[in-house]
Amino acid sequence: MAGKQERLVIFDTTLRDGEQSPGASMNLAQKLEVARALDLLGVDVIEAGFPITSPDDFEAVQTIGREVTRPTICGLARCVEKDIVAAGQALKTARRGRIHVFLATSAIHRKFKLHKAQSEIVKMTIAGVKAARQWTDDVQFSPEDAARTEPDFLAEVVEAVIDAGASTVNIPDTVGYTLPWRFDELIGGLFRDVGNIGKAVIAIHCHNDLGLAVANSLSAVRQGARQIECTINGIGERAGNCSLEEVVMAIKTRCDEFPNVSCGIATRRLYPTSRLVSRITGLAVQRNKAIVGENAFAHEAGIHQDGILKERTTYEIMRPEDVGFKQSSLVLGKHSGRHALAERMKQLGFKLTAPQLDQLFERFKVLADRKKEIFDEDLEALAETELSSSHEFWRLGSLHVSSGTSSIPTATLELVNEKGETSRDASTGDGPVDAIFRAVERLTGVTMRLEDYQIRAVTGGKEAQGEVRVGVRYRSFVLSGRGISTDVLEASARAYIDATNRALARQSRGKAARKPAAAKAARKKTK
Ligand code: KIV
Ligand code: ZN
Repeated sequence: MAGKQERLVIFDTTLRDGEQSPGASMNLAQKLEVARALDLLGVDVIEAGFPITSPDDFEAVQTIGREVTRPTICGLARCVEKDIVAAGQALKTARRGRIHVFLATSAIHRKFKLHKAQSEIVKMTIAGVKAARQWTDDVQFSPEDAARTEPDFLAEVVEAVIDAGASTVNIPDTVGYTLPWRFDELIGGLFRDVGNIGKAVIAIHCHNDLGLAVANSLSAVRQGARQIECTINGIGERAGNCSLEEVVMAIKTRCDEFPNVSCGIATRRLYPTSRLVSRITGLAVQRNKAIVGENAFAHEAGIHQDGILKERTTYEIMRPEDVGFKQSSLVLGKHSGRHALAERMKQLGFKLTAPQLDQLFERFKVLADRKKEIFDEDLEALAETELSSSHEFWRLGSLHVSSGTSSIPTATLELVNEKGETSRDASTGDGPVDAIFRAVERLTGVTMRLEDYQIRAVTGGKEAQGEVRVGVRYRSFVLSGRGISTDVLEASARAYIDATNRALARQSRGKAARKPAAAKAARKKTK
């Protein structure tokens, strides 16, 4: 590790720039809840609002300043007297308050938005910083659209605002236009050309219009920037801002590339804070979002799952616990392998022999072709039917059912016997389930009386598995059967075949294992 590490200031603007995301506005109580979470997360500065814009923003900055006392609380202001006064007044409650003044400096903004010459801009920035210094020693200045500002002019502005008393100068890529190596040049140029740059902290504020906000911020840190402006989940104007969780974890994970800096973020709070902000703003986090997306530590491919189970670092560069996830998840789906299934079954408490695992894996693959994700309940149900069933005299080969409002329900079945021979037959019935049961009876020669038929969803969602249980009477035996499938007709067939197998097992054992009550009842009815 090279020399002493410098503090990398994490400036969170979720409550100001983030709140400017379309549809992300928050009420006072919600802003306070987010501010408290940011405090726990360990951010250094919370930009709590833009006090001149509305009484709500004013109150938010004031309340957060009073209630959240560890981090510096910041209020935004244009280089305009009334904005600066509003920010100064709102921040009176704060133990540590910062006024953040900004004015656009790029040619395009000067010409079309401000109608001002460069010299007028410089004068306004100096006046703005000096006015803010009347309220606090902690003044930050941002030349808006800095990344598109002529580098010489930008250097002149930066020098002027530091002389006027700004202790932090932020270089925004307001429209997310720059590229990592261009931003690198711009920041490096400022460190080279601005004589008094050592008197201020250089910050960056990158927007994500080209998806480069994190990359651009990282390249600026390598050039000496020591404050990163960012938001939880990367929310913010248009495509958003640099995402706090991504930039922090990039620096932590690749500390080999950033040996000179360290930040105070409690990374285990990243996931809970992300969930909170998503819940409060209503802005969903995409599943595959880096660090905090639901898939960030989920592995489905069999090869990856096998690798992870052998050695986590084969496919994970961060530990899920370090960002607040409980653990990596091996999502069981059609790409999963035997190793992952065996591991999950072990976690669920099943002790499987190798042939049992083979049998279960086959059924699992069939199910996974129909269902995107296999949940624990699916596996339990599968294991129970597959592993606890009685001797398989018959098993389902295939099933075809035709039914409708104006046709006679007909079921065509193929059953496979214990020797592996397939028999095929069809039957009509009062309904599709009845047709299936009759076809099973024709094929097996086992006639049973159906006494109970129950169906229920084993798991949630559209692709839920259906479980069918049948209660049947065969001779003097009262028996049950159970079948599971995403198709309820198939589940019905499996349940009836299961009951048939139990009936044949009873018959071949030659003894009834009836419960006394059931046996008595059975005798009465057959009289
Ligand atoms: O994007 C931007 O330039 C800003 C400034 C106010 C810093 O949000
Ligand atoms: Zn911004």
